[in-house]
Amino acid sequence: MNKPILVVSTGAGISAESGIKTFRDADGLWENYPVMQVASADGFRRDPELVHHFYNERRKALIHALPNDAHRALVDLEKDYDVYVITQNVDDLHERAGQKNVLHLHGELMKIRSVYDPDYIEDLDIDHLETTPATRGRNGDPMRPHIVFFQEPVPNIEKAVELVQRADIFVVIGTSLVVYPAAGLLHYVRPGVPVYYIDPNPADIPSSAGVHIIRATATEGMKILQRELA
Ligand code: OAD
Repeated sequence: MNKPILVVSTGAGISAESGIKTFRDADGLWENYPVMQVASADGFRRDPELVHHFYNERRKALIHALPNDAHRALVDLEKDYDVYVITQNVDDLHERAGQKNVLHLHGELMKIRSVYDPDYIEDLDIDHLETTPATRGRNGDPMRPHIVFFQEPVPNIEKAVELVQRADIFVVIGTSLVVYPAAGLLHYVRPGVPVYYIDPNPADIPSSAGVHIIRATATEGMKILQRELA
């Protein structure tokens, strides 16, 4: 028999307990860095050096981080559900926890891609994580972080929408739900499908009537969710 489909949409909050900074909390990344300079297409054109530096710093933080109990709890759910994780995160903690199906909406820190060809993507070598405007791919192209900058389209959004439309259960974890189109995924859930939102400081959702809010950190909230689903 087919397992029910459980679709999870994760944001920076799921990695907070792994020591990765979120963007908009107090002392979050966007409080300390000018977002449009380090994370927009215009910013990259104006000062690529600064943008490479910003992502080099993020990579250094990531290699010292480990998946936490929330990432692992999502892997455990694979026993009873077909689990699909749609993440806004650029870290690889879901994959390192052993998650089978992970769709990245905003790119991946440990990858770089050609400035000319968005489909030419390379994995970074763990011993050579620093990139600069002089970094070249194996094909000779100048390379940039494999990150979806503000002002750029989100290539995986259609795949994400299709997954959400198939969900039998939809779970949102650790996102402020301010960045679109990711924040809009909630609107594609079929009527009657249970929706859970785990976040210690959840956003106000206009259509939150049917949403079960679990006001807790990701690791605590996942324990509560596991009990609810049992
Ligand atoms: P935000 O920083 O906007 O929101 C983080 C959310 O995590 C907030 O709702 C917090 O309440 C919550 N949070 C904090 N600690 C938590 C914990 N221990 N457990 C669970 N939740 C916790 O991050 P995102 O919503 O992911 O895009 O941001 C979306 C996008 O904005 C990012 O992907 C990034 C950023 O600009 C790009 O850079 C392309």
